[in-house]
Parts: sequence; structure tokens; C-alpha cells
Amino acid sequence: MKRKLKVGVVGATGMVGQTFMNILEEREFPIAELHPFASENSLGKKIDLQGKSWPVAILKEGCFDDLDLVFFSSGDDISKEWAPKAVKAGAFAIDNSAAFRMDPNTVLIVPEVNGHLVTKDSRPQIIANPNCSTIQLVVALKPLADRFGLEEVRVSTYQAVSGAGQGGYDELLEQTANHTQPDPAAKMFPHAILFNCIPQIGSFNDEGFCSEEVKIMSETRKILGQQKLKVSAFTVRIPALNAHSESVWVTLNKAVSRDEVMSALSEFPGIVVQDEPKKGVYPLARTVSGQDPVYVGRVHRDLENPLMWMMWVVSDNIRKGAALNGIQIAEQIFF
Ligand SMILES: NC(=O)c1ccc[n+]([C@@H]2O[C@H](COP(=O)([O-])OP(=O)(O)OC[C@H]3O[C@@H](n4cnc5c(N)ncnc54)[C@H](OP(=O)(O)O)[C@@H]3O)[C@@H](O)[C@H]2O)c1
Repeated sequence: MKRKLKVGVVGATGMVGQTFMNILEEREFPIAELHPFASENSLGKKIDLQGKSWPVAILKEGCFDDLDLVFFSSGDDISKEWAPKAVKAGAFAIDNSAAFRMDPNTVLIVPEVNGHLVTKDSRPQIIANPNCSTIQLVVALKPLADRFGLEEVRVSTYQAVSGAGQGGYDELLEQTANHTQPDPAAKMFPHAILFNCIPQIGSFNDEGFCSEEVKIMSETRKILGQQKLKVSAFTVRIPALNAHSESVWVTLNKAVSRDEVMSALSEFPGIVVQDEPKKGVYPLARTVSGQDPVYVGRVHRDLENPLMWMMWVVSDNIRKGAALNGIQIAEQIFF
């Protein structure tokens, strides 16, 4: 029988936090105690899980004492301050923020890809959950890397508004309800998102890359353990509610047949191939939203370069891109 755990969730009322609750319920994750944390605005709220109601608390010194595991999904600043305190109190801190991802002393884990870096013998530590767009990309790349080797990866993303949290989701719904307004006010995004595509996610550096692109490029190299892999990313926010889509160009180290590529993808855990494009069958954000796997379709070879393959990769950014990946890491450590 699985040991029941005392679990903290920081950011329990947010988009990722609520999805944590749904997935903990679905997977019958053994909970002895749930400690949901959020901002002062949520004091008085309760979180229902596994037939019990748990009051939301705010973070304060000693709040992680006696916990086995704390999931963090409240942003970089809160993780920077509080995740080390969770570890000091003897808990594993599984962090959804970007605060520790590129720290050389912190592991950055996607269980299907580099899960061997955490085991039942691991000691309490901070474990970083990658960026949502990175997770689905590396799941799709890993079987190709293992069987054929990777030379170069290019990715262009089509990212849903839920990636900006509850506020982003609400903003698209609000602009949709008032779609006749000529110039809707933008709060969560740099421009109105309705009827639009915005080629900016995060802030720009001097080379012209936005922070989401830098995260995808550096995290992909770290997770795949290929520091010299050529990776180039271009990220775009689109008016999809949930599930990120990516067009990916991947150059392999050797010439292989389409059958070999399709077998590698379809046999890999966590991937579902949907690839009958002439029948209109390929992954779509609307149907992938709410599902666990990474979906891959439109797999075809480039006309000029026989080593280059193109594919369309779609996954639920709140589930596999955040909460599910974190829970899979916890399952790997504890069960
Ligand atoms: N959305 C995604 O696709 C996605 C994917 C991967 C990673 N992430 C990361 O996950 C984190 C949360 O994202 P989200 O989408 O869930 O955002 P969100 O919907 O805006 O939720 C933010 C959560 O943080 C809580 N919070 C705010 N201030 C706090 C404080 N001082 N102390 C404790 N909790 C506080 C909020 O509580 P209140 O409700 O009380 O304000 C809420 O529960 C971010 O680091 C984000 O980068 C998000």
C-alpha cells in the first residue's frame, strides 16, 4: 500500500493549482493532509479534495514543517523565497516557476525524458518543472534523439491564453463576450488577444528573443543533456483558450524512413500520434485540452533536406505542461 503524504500546494487557487487538485483526485494520489496556500485574497476559501475540505492559508515561517512534498505554482519570486524553506523543513519542493530551472545544481525533469535523475533514494531538494512549451517539445524529441540522434531543432509556437494563468483566460473570454468593441483593453498581454496573434511572450533581450524563447532553447538543451544542440525558438500567443501547439523542424543525424520515425514516436510513453492529414486528422488544441498525452501529427520529411522532418505537437499546457508533470515527478520519488 502506498504511504499517504502530507502535501502543500502553493498557488492552490490558480489555474495550475486547481489542475493539481483535479489530477491528484483522478490519480488517487495518497494524501494524508493537504495544505493549500494562496494570497491573502483567498483567505476564507476552502479546497475540496478526496472527500475533505482543506482551508487555504497564507505562507508564513514554519508553514512547511512536517510536510513531505510541496508543489509551487505562484511565480518566480515566491518560489525563490519559499522553495528553499520547504527543503530546509525536510520536504521535496517541486517548482513550476522559472526560478531554479537553469540553476546548475537543480535538476529539471520531464519523467519520460530524464526521469532517471530522481529516484526513491533522492533526498529532499528543489526539483524544477520545465516551461510548458519545453515539456511537450522534449517529449516529442526524445524518441527521435534516442534512435536517430538530433542535429538541430527549430520550433514556432502557437500558445494558448491559459499559459498566462487565470487572468489570461478570463481576458480572452471577456474580449470575446464584447467582441464588437473596436479596441479592447489589454491587461495580461501586450495587445488585444482576440482576433490576433502576438509574437511576444515575456520581455525581449538585446538579440531580439523574448524570454519564453530563451527558456525553450536553454531548457531543451539541459533536459536532453545536449549542451551543443542547435535549438531556435519563435513564440506566439494566439487566441486559443487552452493547449499549446508547436510546429517543429527537426534535423536528424541519419537518414531514416517515415515508418521508422512514426514507430519511434508512437512507441514512446506519453505520446499519441494522430496523423491522417488527408482525412483532417491531426492534433487540435480544442480536443487536446483536458487530455494528458503529448499529441503529434503532420509528420513529414522536408523536400530539400532528407534529414529534416516536420511535425505538429500539441499538449495541454496546464496538465502535461505543468501540474501533471509535477505529479509524475512526485510519483517517481515516492512510489
Ligand atoms: N499556466 C500555465 O500554462 C503554466 C505552465 C507552467 C508553469 N506555470 C507557472 O505556474 C505558476 C502559476 O501559474 P498559474 O497559471 O496557475 O497562475 P494564476 O492562475 O495567476 O495563479 C497564481 C496563484 O498564485 C497565488 N499567489 C499569488 N500571490 C501569492 C502569495 N503572495 N502567496 C501565495 N500564493 C500566491 C494565487 O493566489 P490568489 O488566487 O489568492 O491570488 C494563485 O493561486 C507560474 O509560475 C507560472 O509561470 C504556468
